[in-house]
Amino acid sequence: MRVLVVGSGGREHALCWKIAQSPLLSALWCAPGNPGIAEVARCVPIGAEDVAGLVAFAREQAVDLVVPGPEAPLTLGLADACRAAGIACCGPSAAAARLEGSKAFAKEVASAAGAPTAAWARFSDAEAARAYLLQKGAPIVVKADGLAAGKGVVVAATLEEALAAVTDIMDRRIHGRAGESVVIEECLLGEEVSFFALCDGTTALPLAAAQDHKRVGEGDRGPNTGGMGAYSPAPAFTPALAEATMERIIRPCLAEMARRGTPFTGILFAGLMLTAEGPKLIEFNVRFGDPECQALMLRLDSDLLPLLHAAATGQLAGQSVAWKPLHAMVVVMAARGYPGPVTPGSEIRGIEAAARHALVFHAGTRRDEAGVLRAAGGRVLHLAATGETLREARDAVYRAVDALDWPEGFCRRDIGWRVLGAAG
Ligand code: AMP
Ligand code: GLY
Repeated sequence: MRVLVVGSGGREHALCWKIAQSPLLSALWCAPGNPGIAEVARCVPIGAEDVAGLVAFAREQAVDLVVPGPEAPLTLGLADACRAAGIACCGPSAAAARLEGSKAFAKEVASAAGAPTAAWARFSDAEAARAYLLQKGAPIVVKADGLAAGKGVVVAATLEEALAAVTDIMDRRIHGRAGESVVIEECLLGEEVSFFALCDGTTALPLAAAQDHKRVGEGDRGPNTGGMGAYSPAPAFTPALAEATMERIIRPCLAEMARRGTPFTGILFAGLMLTAEGPKLIEFNVRFGDPECQALMLRLDSDLLPLLHAAATGQLAGQSVAWKPLHAMVVVMAARGYPGPVTPGSEIRGIEAAARHALVFHAGTRRDEAGVLRAAGGRVLHLAATGETLREARDAVYRAVDALDWPEGFCRRDIGWRVLGAAG
């Protein structure tokens, strides 16, 4: 099979690393890829959002399967364009990608499907939003309705914070057009997990759950990020909770999408809160999580490629997935300053030494003319390891962190603390 992976982050590196192990693979490209991905796939300089360029390349190279990593090309219609060109694509149509692109749309689908989710209301008028906040009180959650790079959500502990969020999002438009409307939600309490299911439009195959660490600081403090580390499995997410999630959330929402004439194909990522009343949906994403994907790929025993192809071609019924009896942990190394502005270009040394302890997935790196590896983004490297226990995985991954020679980078030292305790 000839495969094109789209994207340039740690998630795409992990997908390429796993797909490269498939005996069914005959050629693997990644657009645009990164220096780490270049070790397992051929990188082609086409932007992840250049839908026409990607489809033209896939045609030229007789690609059998396109695997989009991030959501942006999906919301721009990459899967539609692939299908129109007769190329299988393991991702949703632009219409189905609205599950991630519009929080209000996801809420409508969940409500219509009867899936448990936080009570919510949507406002395109800031005064009406403020009046609703005054009526509901805190804690409460305010979200920019559109895509805001994961930064459009304010979990407000006080009414003042909630009102300020409405001003920032709707009046000051700090997230641009994503703030034309806001969704205001009941604040759910519990442990948060990321759950992934592979979908072919009608059938959903449960994959696995992971726990992310969204705040930049240890002890889950400080601003939200794209994710600072993850582990899988998530012990809080028992098999019974997984089955409840499939029964009450994933299958009904998949059926609702099909009923609307916008069947969902690809990876459905349910952000869940494990509340006292059971799992409740926080949000959907239409792709693997980053860095959750890296943890899942390390645990996955089955060949990923035929599963992705079956999802893309409506043939998931009857398929199964096998997992290694291991725990996996990913720690994100970010450039100092992240999630705020960072200074790019610092040299990264010690990759080989780190690789003796863990897999090193590249997220934001580049090689300069002399071949020196340099930081080129906020999240720069994702170090990932497995162990028979989560503690073993953790010890291996932090040995890799310590072997790395990159003073301009930092990581959280407490990934896994909910399971292992703050002191480990
Ligand atoms: P989202 O971008 O929707 O994933 O939201 C970012 C983060 O905000 C989530 O990962 C949760 O930690 C938190 N969050 C979102 N919605 C709620 C909610 N209704 N109750 C509590 N926390 C929430
Ligand atoms: N790590 C969370 C996400 O990919 O959205």
